[in-house]
Amino acid sequence: MKILLTGGAGYIGSHTAVALIEAGFEPVVLDNFANSHPLVLDRLARITGRPVSLERGDVLDTAWLQDVLRRHRPVGVIHFAGDKAVGESVAQPLKYFHNNIGGAVSLMRAMSAVHAEDTTLTPTLVFSSSATVYGDPASVPITESFPRSHTNPYGHSKLVIEDMLAAVCAANPAWRVGTLRYFNPVGAHPSGLMGEDPSGIPNNLMPYVAQVAVGQREHLNVYGNDYPTPDGTGVRDYIHVQDLAAGHVAAIQALLGRSESFTVNLGTGQGHSVLDVVHAFEKASGRPIPYQIAPRRAGDVAQCWADPALALRLLGWQAKHSLDEMCADTWRWQSANPTGYRG
Ligand code: NAD
Ligand code: UD1
Repeated sequence: MKILLTGGAGYIGSHTAVALIEAGFEPVVLDNFANSHPLVLDRLARITGRPVSLERGDVLDTAWLQDVLRRHRPVGVIHFAGDKAVGESVAQPLKYFHNNIGGAVSLMRAMSAVHAEDTTLTPTLVFSSSATVYGDPASVPITESFPRSHTNPYGHSKLVIEDMLAAVCAANPAWRVGTLRYFNPVGAHPSGLMGEDPSGIPNNLMPYVAQVAVGQREHLNVYGNDYPTPDGTGVRDYIHVQDLAAGHVAAIQALLGRSESFTVNLGTGQGHSVLDVVHAFEKASGRPIPYQIAPRRAGDVAQCWADPALALRLLGWQAKHSLDEMCADTWRWQSANPTGYRG
C-alpha cells in the first residue's frame, strides 16, 4: 500500500518513510529539495535495503500533483512539505502564506479532483501541524481543546491550514484527516545515517547544541534564566523523531481503519529545561557544552509540554524514547556527518 509523503526528503518525512517501510507500507517521497538533499534517498535505501520512489517537484503544481496521485494511487498522503523557520516567517510572511497555505490548498484540490474521478478512493490525509498553534498557553500540560492562537506568520499558516482541513471534511464526509500537533522534534535515526540538517545557523536548541559539541560553534546562548521554571530556563517537550515517525504510522493505520478524522498532540508529556538538554548532551557526547546566559528570545514562552493522552486513546501511540536517547542519537548523526548531507 503506497503512502505519498510530500516533503518526504525532509527531517521528519525521511524518518517517517523508514517507519512506514518497517510497518509494511510503500512510501513515495515527493519533494522539491528546497530544504533537503537528494542524498537522503541513498540513505533511505541503505537503512531499509530497498530503493524508495521519488517524485521531484513542487506541491504548488496542482496539475502535476494530480498526475502523481493518478499514477501511484496512494491509500494515504502525509503532508510534511512547507517552510518552518519562525524568524524567516516574520521577515517574509508572503513566502509562508504562499508555500504553506498555497501548498495545502493545491494538495487538497488535487486530492479532491482525483477522488471525483474515482470515488472508490477515500481521500486520506495526515497533516504536520505544530504546538505553535497553542500560542502562549495559559497552563501546562496542553490538551487539544486549549484555545488556538498565533504569534507569527508560520504559526498563522498552520492555524489556517487546520481550519481549511476542517472545512473540507465538513463539505465532503468522505475525507479522513489526521492532524498531528508536534511538540519539539529532535534526535536522529540510530544508524547515524539520517538526521536534522539545518542550513545556516540553527534556530532550534538541539541542533545548535550539537554543533557546539562538534566544535563548529563556540558556545550556546541560553535565552533567559529568569523564567518561572525550576532552573529559570525555558522548558519544552522534546520528542524523538523516531517516536514522531511511529505516530504517523499509527495515524495512517487509524485512518485506514476507517476512524473518524482527529487532531492529536504528539509529545512525550514531559518537560525538559535548556540546561537539562545541555547536561544530557554533555553526557551523550562526552564533550563540554560551553554556554552563556543571554537575554530572552522575543516570542518565547516559559514552558510548553503536551498532554499526550488522546493520542494513546485514539491511536494506541505513546512516545518511548528518553532525553538521553535523543541526545545520543543526535550526537551519533552529528559526529558522523558534521556538515550534514552536504558532506
Ligand atoms: P524540513 O524542512 O526538513 O522538511 C520539509 C520538506 O518539504 C523539505 O524536504 C523541503 O524541501 C520540502 N518542501 C518545502 N516546500 C515544498 C514544496 N513547495 N514542494 C515540495 N516540497 C517542498 O522540515 P521538517 O522538520 O521535516 O518538518 C516537516 C513538517 O513538520 C513541516 O510542515 C513543519 O512545519 C512541521 N513541523 C516541524 C517541526 C520541527 O520542529 N521540525 C515542528 C512542528 C511542525
Ligand atoms: C520553536 C518555534 C516554534 C516551532 C518549534 C519547532 C520560536 C519562537 N518557536 O519552538 O514555533 O514549532 O521551534 O521545534 O522559534 N534556546 C536557547 N538557545 C538557542 C536556541 C533555543 O536557549 O540557541 C531555548 C529557547 O529559548 C527555548 C528552548 O531552547 O526555551 C527551545 O527552543 P527551540 O528549539 O527554538 O524550540 P521552541 O522555541 O520551543
